[in-house]
Amino acid sequence: MTNPEAKARIEQLRAEIAAHDERYYREAKPEIRDFEYDVLKKELAWIEAEFPELADAAGESPTQRVGDDRSEGFVRVKHRMAMTTLDNTYDETELREFHARLVKALGTEDICYTVEPKIDGVAVSLTYENGKLTRAVTRGDGEEGDDVTANVKTIRGLPHALKPTDDLLAPPVPEIIEIRGEIFLRDEEFRRINQLQEEAGEALYANPRNLAAGTIKQLDSKLVATRRLEIVLYGLGACEPVPAGFDSQSLFQAQVRAWGLPVVEKFWAVRGIDAVWEAIGELDAMRRGFAYATDGAVVKTDLFSQQAVVGYRGAGQAARKLSPRWACAYKFAPDRAETRINAISVQVGRTGAVTPVAELEPVLLAGTTVKRATLHNADEIARKDVRVGDFVLVEKAGEIIPAVIEVVLSKRTPECVAYVFPTECPVCGTKLVREEGGVKWMCPNAQCPEKVRRKIEHFASKASLDIDGLGEEVVDLLLTKGLIKTIPDIFRLKVEDLLPLKKSGEVWAGNLINGIAARKTADLWRVIHGLGIPQVGAASAKDLARRFRSLDALAAAGLNELVQIEGFGEKTGEAVRTWFGDEANRAMVADLQAAGVAPSPPAEAAAGAVLAGKTVVLTGTLPTLSREQATEMIEAAGGKVSGSVSRKTHYVLAGEEAGSKLEKAKTLGVPVLDEAGFRALLG
Ligand code: IVH
Repeated sequence: MTNPEAKARIEQLRAEIAAHDERYYREAKPEIRDFEYDVLKKELAWIEAEFPELADAAGESPTQRVGDDRSEGFVRVKHRMAMTTLDNTYDETELREFHARLVKALGTEDICYTVEPKIDGVAVSLTYENGKLTRAVTRGDGEEGDDVTANVKTIRGLPHALKPTDDLLAPPVPEIIEIRGEIFLRDEEFRRINQLQEEAGEALYANPRNLAAGTIKQLDSKLVATRRLEIVLYGLGACEPVPAGFDSQSLFQAQVRAWGLPVVEKFWAVRGIDAVWEAIGELDAMRRGFAYATDGAVVKTDLFSQQAVVGYRGAGQAARKLSPRWACAYKFAPDRAETRINAISVQVGRTGAVTPVAELEPVLLAGTTVKRATLHNADEIARKDVRVGDFVLVEKAGEIIPAVIEVVLSKRTPECVAYVFPTECPVCGTKLVREEGGVKWMCPNAQCPEKVRRKIEHFASKASLDIDGLGEEVVDLLLTKGLIKTIPDIFRLKVEDLLPLKKSGEVWAGNLINGIAARKTADLWRVIHGLGIPQVGAASAKDLARRFRSLDALAAAGLNELVQIEGFGEKTGEAVRTWFGDEANRAMVADLQAAGVAPSPPAEAAAGAVLAGKTVVLTGTLPTLSREQATEMIEAAGGKVSGSVSRKTHYVLAGEEAGSKLEKAKTLGVPVLDEAGFRALLG
């Protein structure tokens, strides 16, 4: 690879990764699996290592996806000890390099490890004070998470008190101890709840982990108690007094078990990397029998004293980017299975995008029966030359829906004829058009019944207006009965309209109408999100609500104003302009308002705050403030923190080892502050 080639590829990879990050963090709608994402990251890291002159000096490349789970409605609690992240590898050589680095750092070959299942659940930190469970906090941003104690206390099988031991030699119960673990749902429980969701016309959860994450963030613990969450504990956070009696991970695990807490079904305590590799093989052979889903093995240096010597990578960065040098996650490649394609069907989405789906001969994959898998788009079908009747490999990595990976060509028979992608919408028959600059085929008919249905569903869904009782099934019913045709029609429904729909449906009808009326003054961002403007996810909808504060102001916004919003490129700005430029859309918004929808604008930042309307970029390590503390101070002063420096940046707050962001600030003439200057500015 030549230098210019590397440069081009690096730029391409960075852009791709940034786009996926946006989908994952800001919109919670990942398009690719963790595995594929990790592959992109790995390639970038590899090229940057080969061409260090091209690497981004300030490159904060988290080695895996770790977002920030904090959400509204929960009390935030600081962890006594940060919850960090782990380096991932899929590769034996890299695992051996991890050992080699430790041998060098510790000056000995004699290193003992634990090998534990890597549980694919939701991380949580429990605090026991003098043996009593006092707190359960989600990971949050690693430093501070949401208090979910009431919900966690509903978990059967989690003792609220540590079991005292009669053993006189046993260590005393600590005054305060943080014990980390993972909350999960068994597959059968996942299926049971999804079945109920389906019956209620609510959206289905993609996998057990999403459902567990959604459940632990319910504001109503009574509902949580109806779902059988489980927990398994494996990690030590803060402990006072300093751990006595367990000075290694394996002894800690034994102690957790002795306290009566649920622990992993099996872990290995071994010496040297060959034994680690063997244990990983044993784990892989038995993990499918465990109660929880596993996506790898976590290898930890056993002795706490050795852990302390090697410490963490990324010191000075945000907690969620710290990673212990003493641990490594070896991830198993996602599960695959072979099956036949019985048919290819196409689905029409809310935007009109037509997605091909493989209807499969049912096959057992990673514990669930798979009947359908996505084929992504027409180009992908052509590229992989997928035909009806073909045997294919399908893959499921615990994320999203399964996908067709490749055709088993050796099994192809002459009956398998090439697939012809439809040229017309399967629902309304309109001629499909190709998405501009994209790979998707679209149904351009604004009246297409399927598009209309999906748009209304999206508007009413949890992610948008969150109208109680208006799930997919009810929307479908209202459409078929001709009671609604457009989104605003929802707000004109009356109890009398609904009564004929269900036998003894008075209560149902009353509740639904009340549920709808209650959302007329929903947060503005929810309404904006519900409009379904291309490129505008929940995060962008919030930005728009903050900036424009009303639907009318947003509708009147010029491209110039739109692109001035931090994080909004030309593309998003144009999309918003185009959407409001459409007569039919404007009429729909007016009709919504006429039907009584009067969304609530977000609360305003304190008037006259020092940083009101200003954008600040943080870089490097500040002498006393953590990134989170600095962010809090900026936001409290009315400002906004952004990740990248541009002409629109008002200040760069720079500390030790600031890299390319500082350089860029100087080039662009953006004022640079150090911590003292920053404090002075805030006064
Ligand atoms: S140790 C800094 N042990 O995987 C040490 N983590 O990829 C990290 N996880 O954030 C925690 N099973 O949520 C550890 N046996 C295990 C685990 C485990 C699952 C999760 C945990 C962590 C993430 C890191």
